Amino acid sequence: MSFTLLINIKKLLQVRESNLHYVSGKEMNIIPSINDAYLLLENSLIKDFGEMKDCPKKLEKFKVIDCKEQMVLPSWCDSHSHIVYSGNRSNEFIDRIKGLTYTEIANNGGGILNSVEILRNTSKEDLLKQSLERIENVVKQGTGAIEIKSGYGLNIDSEKKMLEVISDIDKSNNIIIKSTFLGAHAFPKEFLQNKDGYVDLVINKMIPEFNDLKLIDYVDVFCEEGYFNLNQAEKIISAAKKIGIQAKIHVNQFNSIGGVKLAVKYNALSVDHLEILNDEDLDVLKNGTTMPVALPTCSFFLGLNYTPGRKIIDSGLPLAIASDFNPGSSPSGNMNFVISTACIKMKLTAEEAINAATINGAYSMGISDKVGSITKGKIANLIITKKIKTINELPYNFGESKISKIILAGNLI
Ligand code: NIG
Ligand code: FE
Repeated sequence: MSFTLLINIKKLLQVRESNLHYVSGKEMNIIPSINDAYLLLENSLIKDFGEMKDCPKKLEKFKVIDCKEQMVLPSWCDSHSHIVYSGNRSNEFIDRIKGLTYTEIANNGGGILNSVEILRNTSKEDLLKQSLERIENVVKQGTGAIEIKSGYGLNIDSEKKMLEVISDIDKSNNIIIKSTFLGAHAFPKEFLQNKDGYVDLVINKMIPEFNDLKLIDYVDVFCEEGYFNLNQAEKIISAAKKIGIQAKIHVNQFNSIGGVKLAVKYNALSVDHLEILNDEDLDVLKNGTTMPVALPTCSFFLGLNYTPGRKIIDSGLPLAIASDFNPGSSPSGNMNFVISTACIKMKLTAEEAINAATINGAYSMGISDKVGSITKGKIANLIITKKIKTINELPYNFGESKISKIILAGNLI
């Protein structure tokens, strides 16, 4: 048994009861905290916390970390990433600077299919190595749980390769991983003339096989004009639901084509992107338990509209934010920058952005009973900040790390 005791914490942030799974509307502007606090960890879990006056006295029993003038909060929960990929698309980045749009680049054979070509020609070992480097980087930036999607293989072997790499990352690391099958990310070039044939392959071969191999937690579809239409998306989501796999889907990135309504109908865990969100979509979300997820660094990188996060929260809904880390539309998994961008561009307060990146992010990957808040019994994945006076300094110093130490599963990294 090993005990770690954090003492003299200026502010212990995001202290919650275990029955809370997400926060919505006005409540998002509150981060319950304890000033001048201690936090006791037993092995990988949060054991106890409170004010320093009640701190355990016999310090020699514990590994002690003094957090004077520093704050402590739960690690970031990044509920949407494509962090397993090969190579990069920096050439497309320059094409966009010169004036081409994301859609034009994709229509010219670039985009997702460019990454598919590279990934199919990358060995599993190399893919794992490249991906682990990025994982180590996001861990240093405070991410303690991350959802990872497949979707750059688009055939059985290469999708399986991606999912196995996700599983290997899970086994080799203390970061918490959720795996999402995104076979319906784009139509592979072999099926461009037979799109329904590809949907059949996803439904009849890939989902059952990968489910049997226990490689997938969730299923995703890029529901968008030029990608998977509503009918194709519904077939995939309903096939997954029949075998107990919930959906988390890409919707409303460029057009609102009914993906939100579809997701809520099937009780999807989250709807992600929402750069284009109309009032009907908003009303539909109010009648469900599906979490809206904004990806502000994707908007930043592609120069798209920002998801109307302010409007979503003001209408009483919850909101999560995630990195969307991928080679095409958001080649960064830095959640600190995601939080800054949510504040600067979507007009969230620091409190709202922190809720969106912790407890609501955890909900969006189905793990809010394990992480996302300082709660007895939850996993001790924590950020210890540098010396700061208010939490506003976290988003304010954009692009700069305010993190001094990281704890994952009770261990100092
Ligand atoms: O979430 N929009 C679809 N998928 C990714 C982009 C993937 C890529 O360009 O490689 C996204 O933005
Ligand atoms: Fe994405």
